Amino acid sequence: MNRSQLVKVREGTTDLMVPADFCRKGPGRSTEEVFYNRQMEFSRDISVLLGRIVLKANWRILDGLAASGARGLRMAKECGSGGRLFLNDRSHRAAALIRKNARANDIDDAVVYCRDLGALLSEESFDYIDIDPFGTPVRYVDAAIQSCRNEGILAVTATDTAPLSGTYPRTCARRYGAISARSPFSRETGLRILLGWIAREAAKHERGCEPILCFYADHYFRCHVRMRKGARRADRSLEELGFAFYDPKTLQRGIVPQRPSRTSDTLAGPLWVGSLHSPEVLTLMTSDESLGTRRRCEKAIELWRGEIGAPALYYRVDELAKHTKRHPPKLSHLVQRLQSSGAHSSRTDFDPKGFKTDMPIGELIELFEIVSTR
Ligand SMILES: C[S@@+](CC[C@H](N)C(=O)[O-])C[C@H]1O[C@@H](n2cnc3c(N)ncnc32)[C@H](O)[C@@H]1O
Repeated sequence: MNRSQLVKVREGTTDLMVPADFCRKGPGRSTEEVFYNRQMEFSRDISVLLGRIVLKANWRILDGLAASGARGLRMAKECGSGGRLFLNDRSHRAAALIRKNARANDIDDAVVYCRDLGALLSEESFDYIDIDPFGTPVRYVDAAIQSCRNEGILAVTATDTAPLSGTYPRTCARRYGAISARSPFSRETGLRILLGWIAREAAKHERGCEPILCFYADHYFRCHVRMRKGARRADRSLEELGFAFYDPKTLQRGIVPQRPSRTSDTLAGPLWVGSLHSPEVLTLMTSDESLGTRRRCEKAIELWRGEIGAPALYYRVDELAKHTKRHPPKLSHLVQRLQSSGAHSSRTDFDPKGFKTDMPIGELIELFEIVSTR
């Protein structure tokens, strides 16, 4: 096959020309071709839904690592916000394809750059900055924080889930200055380490962070964070940092504000311990017929709403089953029993076998033994 052959794909109401041998699943990797990953359609659908709520008419919106332009062009066409769109990719092929895709979708006023993102961010400021790299976002976030206007939003993807979730703790320490550890809930600690790191980076520049929508999906973490200027705001964000501990023998887990001087338990952090989503934004967010991943978006929004107010660090039914040597009950049944006993409980979007509750571990094990079978 001719390597530069293009095919037309449709996402939402946007038509995109992309290389015929595009990536269909997983994180993908850098090649000479312009990058397009079909599996990220869900992430782009969420960007569209969120953009409809948060983008403002006079905003400067940057898709900083745009590849085919899929995300930025969709936001321009499908959010109806009226902001000014800027798309950037240092690959000349990508920039040419972005221009072609912009024309095909009648997006005539988009500005397309072919520059190094770091250099662009050091010269211009934006209200919404999307950073969707191969792997870690660490090399772009400091410049993006400085480029982001007051009350603006930083949207960051990280596909280096293995270091963040404790498979490669040394890499995590180097990139994020944090301890990561494997645990049944390490998808959550991974996301919270990333968010905590963004908050620490922002604090250096006297900016506070408000997470709008932060989640795990497929092979990546995605954070949408509002940036507010002010030393006090930065201080308040730092107060939302802590450490997660876990004792595999008792299944006890929790958050402590400081790193304990001596602990035998598994520990992760510093990480963000506050809420991951804005309840106001989630109340307004609704899926829509035009989206290719409409059902998945509906399900995710329902789970995110259910998790508002839930404590950090989820459990998995199978770890409780193993611990109690029982067969796991239906997850919905367990969540219902926890709720009717007065505890907070919800399923979690982090894991199809996961649930959250504020019931103390001893009581949780007792209740689990009642609702499960031998
Ligand atoms: C994972 S892809 C982006 C995918 C895209 N956001 C989408 O939704 O399809 C990363 C892109 O970043 C570009 N890139 C990598 N390093 C860059 C840099 N320093 N400055 C600008 N673009 C860069 C690559 O050429 C590639 O197209």
